[in-house]
Amino acid sequence: MSATPDLQNFECRIDAAGIAWLGFDCADSSVNRLSREVMEEFNAALDHFDRHRPAGLVIHSLKPAGFIAGADIREFDALQTPEGVTELIRRGWNAFERLATVHYPTLALIRGHCLGGGLELALACRYRLAVDQPDTRLALPEVMLGISPAWGGMRRLPALIGAPAALDMMLTGRAVDARKAARLGLVDARVPPRLQMRAAAQHVVSGKPRMQARGMGRWLNHSAARQLVMNHTLKKVNARDPYQHYMAPRAILQIWARHDGNALTAPDLLNDLVRSETARNLIRVFHLQDRLKAFGKRNELAGEVRHVHVIGAGVMGGDIAAWCALKDFKVTLQDQSRDRIAQAQGRAHALFSRRIKPARLQRAAADRLIPDPDGHGITQADLVIEAITEDLEAKLALYARIEPRMKTGAILASNTSSLSLEALQAGLQQPQRLVGIHFFNPVAKMPLVEVVETPCTDPAARATALAFVGRLGKLPLPVLDAPGFLVNAVLAPYILEAMRCVDEGLSPETVDEAMKVFGMPMGPLELADTVGLDIVQAAGQQLAGDRAMPACLTSLLARRQLGRKSGRGFYVWKDGKPEKQAPGTPPANLAHRLIAPLVAKAREQVERGVVADADLADAGVIFGTGFAPFSGGPLHWEQHRAPAVTPV
Ligand code: NAI
Repeated sequence: MSATPDLQNFECRIDAAGIAWLGFDCADSSVNRLSREVMEEFNAALDHFDRHRPAGLVIHSLKPAGFIAGADIREFDALQTPEGVTELIRRGWNAFERLATVHYPTLALIRGHCLGGGLELALACRYRLAVDQPDTRLALPEVMLGISPAWGGMRRLPALIGAPAALDMMLTGRAVDARKAARLGLVDARVPPRLQMRAAAQHVVSGKPRMQARGMGRWLNHSAARQLVMNHTLKKVNARDPYQHYMAPRAILQIWARHDGNALTAPDLLNDLVRSETARNLIRVFHLQDRLKAFGKRNELAGEVRHVHVIGAGVMGGDIAAWCALKDFKVTLQDQSRDRIAQAQGRAHALFSRRIKPARLQRAAADRLIPDPDGHGITQADLVIEAITEDLEAKLALYARIEPRMKTGAILASNTSSLSLEALQAGLQQPQRLVGIHFFNPVAKMPLVEVVETPCTDPAARATALAFVGRLGKLPLPVLDAPGFLVNAVLAPYILEAMRCVDEGLSPETVDEAMKVFGMPMGPLELADTVGLDIVQAAGQQLAGDRAMPACLTSLLARRQLGRKSGRGFYVWKDGKPEKQAPGTPPANLAHRLIAPLVAKAREQVERGVVADADLADAGVIFGTGFAPFSGGPLHWEQHRAPAVTPV
C-alpha cells in the first residue's frame, strides 16, 4: 500500500485490493464544484497515482447532495480576456484528457447530480455507474447558461451514446435519470444504493471493454455524416429560436461538427460565446434562481408539512393538489362539486404518468391524492390551501367554517390572485396564520410561486410556506400584500398597452409578433386570450387607476368573447391553438413602448417594498412570465441595454 496524497478537497483511501477511492469533498461548500483550486488538486492526485499506480481508481463523492455540480460559475464572472477564456478551457480539457489516458482502469460512481464539468469528468473515466435513486441526474446544462461544454464532453458524449442523443442532451441541457442513462449507454449500469461501493469495486477491475455508441448513433457521429446531421439539427434549432436570441446551440453544433468537439480549436467562437451579453445575463439568471431557491430552504422557524388539504378542485386547486401528491405529500382534495374532484383526479393521473416512470410509483402518487368532498382532511392537515372561486365573500364564509376545525399550529394559505390578503385575514380568529401561496397557471409548468404576507402574518407561517414551496421544487418569491403582488401587477399594464395598440389600428398578430421578436415566449394578446379577457379586465381595473379600459377589450367582453375558453377573443381558437394571420410590419420601437409600463411597474413595486430588491423583481418577472431570460430581466434590461424608456 502506498501513502495517500494530502488534499484539501478530496479524501483518498487505498483499499486492500489496491483500488484507490478518490472521494470529492470540496472544502467550505455543500456541493462539489470544479474550481481552479479543485482542478489543481485533482491533477496532484493524478500525479500521485502516476507514481503509485493503483489497481483501479474509483472517483466518488462524499457530499450527500450529489456527485459534482459542474464548474465553479463564479469564476466565469471574472473572465475579462480571451486568454482567460482559453486558459479556463485548457485547464479542464487537459486534466480530463489526462484522466482518459491513464494506464489503470477508472470509474465514476455517480450518485445525485452529475452536471456539466462533473459529467465531463465522468465521461473521461473508462466506466460509469449510476446509483439508482430519484435524485441521480446527469446533464450537460451549459447551453442554458449561453455557453458550451468545453472540457471534452462534446467529443466523448457523442462517441459514447451516438450523435442524436448526445446533441439532444447538449442542445437542450436536459437531464437524464439513472434509468435513462443506462438505457442510452451513458453509464455501464445502474446500481442500488446499498450495493454501490461493492459494485464499483468489482466493476473497476473487471477488465470489461469500454462502452461506445453502436449502430446508427455511431454512424451519425462519423465525420462524413456530421455536416448532414448539423444541417438537419440546425433546422430544429431555428424553429425553436427563430429570432436567433441564443447563440450557444449553434456554436455547440459547429464545434461538434467542424472541430470534433474541441473548443480549443475554435477559440474565437468560444470567446464570443462566453463573453457575450447573453451568457452574462443567463449566468445572472442562474444566480437569481439560486437566490429564490435559498428562500425555499427550511429554517428553524418553519413547521413540518406532511398533509396538505386543498379546497377548490378547479383549474388551480386540482392541479396544485396533483403537484403536491407528485412531490410526496399526502393530499386531501375538497370541492363542493364531486365532478370537479373527479376531473382533477383525471388530470392528476395524466401528470403522474408523464412524470413518474415505474407504474408502482405512479400508483403510490395516485394513492396519496385522496378525494375528500366532505372536508374530513381539514382537521388533520398541517397546511390548508384554499383555491375556490375568486370571491371575497365566498372565501370569508369558507374560512369562518373551516378555521375552528383546523388543528393547532396548522397554516391556512390562499391562492388568490387579486384579493387583498388583509381583507381575507379580517374575519379570522387567528389572522396571523394566513399566508398567500400564489401559484401560476399551468401549475406543472410555471416555476415561480409568490409567497404573500401582511404585517400581521406570523413569521413561522411565512417560513413554513416558503419551505413548503421549496419542497415542491418551485421557486418561492416573498412578496408583500399589494394589488397584483409582483407578477400580475407588471403584466396588467403591459397587456393593456398592447390592447391600446389594437385600438390604434394594429393587428393582434403584429403586436404579438413584435414581442416575440423581442424574446417573449408568447405575445401579450395571445397571453390575454389564454388567461381569459374577463380576468384581464378585472385585474386591469384593479391596477390601472383612472385610465379607461381599452375599447377593444370592452367590445370583446360585450360580445362575451373571453378568449381561449370561449373559443374567440383577439384570436379564433381551434383545438387550443389561436388561428393567426400574417403579422404586419410593426412601427419602430413598438416592443419598447409595450415594455415601458411593465418596467415602470416593476420599479414601483420595488420602491414600495412589495418585492425586496430589483434583482428579485427581475427574477420574479422572468420565472413568473417567461420574460426574455437572455435580457437579464426587465429592470436589468432597462439599465443596461435600452435607450431611456419613458413610462407611458
Ligand atoms: P375555478 O373556477 O376553476 O375553480 C374553483 C373551484 O372552487 C370550483 O371547482 C368550485 O366548485 C370550487 N368552490 C367554490 N366555492 C367552494 C366552496 N365554498 N367549497 C368548496 N369548493 C368550492 O377557479 P380557479 O381558476 O381554479 O381559481 C381558484 C383560485 O385560484 C382563485 O382564487 C383565483 O384567483 C386563483 N388563481 C387562478 C389562476 C388562474 O389562472 N385560473 C392563477 C392563479 C391563481
